[in-house]
Amino acid sequence: MDQIIIQGGYPLRGEVHISGAKNSALPILAAALLAEGKSILKNIPRVKDVDTMLKIISSLGAEITQRGDNIELNPTVKKSFASYEFVSTMRASICLLGPLLAKKGEVKISLPGGCAIGPRPVDLHLKGLQRLGAEIKIEDGYIVARGELSGNNIDLRGPFGSSVLATANIMMAACLAKGKTTIFHPAREPELVDLANFLNKMGGDIKGAGGRKIEIEGVKNLEGKKHSIIPDRIEAATYIIAGAISRGEVEIKEANPEHLSFLLKKLKQAGVQIVLRPRGLIVRAKERFRPLHLATAPYPGFPTDVQPLISVLLSLAEGKSVVKEGVYPNRFVYIGELQRMGANIIPREAEIIIQGVNLLKGAKVMASDIRAGAALILAGLAAEGETTVSRVYHIDRGYEDLIKKLSGLGAKIKRKKERSS
Ligand code: EPZ
Repeated sequence: MDQIIIQGGYPLRGEVHISGAKNSALPILAAALLAEGKSILKNIPRVKDVDTMLKIISSLGAEITQRGDNIELNPTVKKSFASYEFVSTMRASICLLGPLLAKKGEVKISLPGGCAIGPRPVDLHLKGLQRLGAEIKIEDGYIVARGELSGNNIDLRGPFGSSVLATANIMMAACLAKGKTTIFHPAREPELVDLANFLNKMGGDIKGAGGRKIEIEGVKNLEGKKHSIIPDRIEAATYIIAGAISRGEVEIKEANPEHLSFLLKKLKQAGVQIVLRPRGLIVRAKERFRPLHLATAPYPGFPTDVQPLISVLLSLAEGKSVVKEGVYPNRFVYIGELQRMGANIIPREAEIIIQGVNLLKGAKVMASDIRAGAALILAGLAAEGETTVSRVYHIDRGYEDLIKKLSGLGAKIKRKKERSS
């Protein structure tokens, strides 16, 4: 397992290009299986989770040709089975459930299980597909779904808001169902709007994606099409906070500030300067950050995926901040690692109290999931001395060329093979 080593204290300067959105690419790759013919998907990020999804899709019989960040996908699916080995390494593969059921009439896919950010239930996925007429059984840790799909009204409200990938699954399945489906309380993330745009290009009939109600008229079939994935707003958030926490000045290129409005509003409240540019923005921070009170929520609320990242910035603010986690209440595993760097953070029920300190000190720390790992990298950029982050395979799942991009901004960062003990 590799490690990432950072010498802290160097302000980042220059420009960084944002890759395509991982959380858009994954459901859109699944959606391409619904088509009668080949799709060409552009701006696909070269990250581990996409590699895993491509391996699963190939194992189903589809033909995949990769050319840089473009992928040609011929949906010659011969079987609809996704094993525990695959699904347990990437829970997002659950978004194959809807397309395979709609296209093949049956599917067997492993239940995802849990991960560091919390249990990953799929009850909303299953409820939605049952409302479309699917017969669903759980056998030996697998979801077995089969049946002809007919449109229906579906309420996707869950205990923590809606579900992003359940909304994706139902939207994809409803495209080929007989009749009309209305999804009440869908998730509204930009990645779902990107998915709906791709499905409509393919011949789907979806209205209202990104809003409070999505209406889908089923069609007979869908055609393979060309599509370019939207920029990754969570990657953009990571580099914005990297520019701020290192007290530098960074231009973020090929990002969409509209997808980041809640974060930008909070960063400005903390005293970070944000200048919008065509297709991006400039971030700079000179003075010490002001503390914040914030709560994560489904889009367009403050993104849960940015919670670990903003908490690192607030650990250096002047005063007390409160960060409530409204989507994954236990998403605080990384706190222990930050405390080893000198952060003063007190965990409470589904929230943390952060007492800002003047300085973080480099230390050996361990990543526990994609965004916790990114947060520890940010802490290393700001800390005094050397920080070594291990289990960086978590970070590889969601960040393309992280070392190259940060080095390009002047960070003193390198990757080394961890000596196997
Ligand atoms: C997506 O996961 C993202 N992943 C996650 O990003 C992100 O954190 C999450 O949405 C929330 O924004 C991808 O898009 C690939 P959910 P998803 O279903 O769809 C509960 C990253 O770092 N829930 O919206 O799996 C669930 O427990 C990843 O890129 C149910 O109760 O998340 C959670 O508390 C991490 N029943 C909340 O809803 C269900 O059937 C939101 O989960 C499904 C979910």
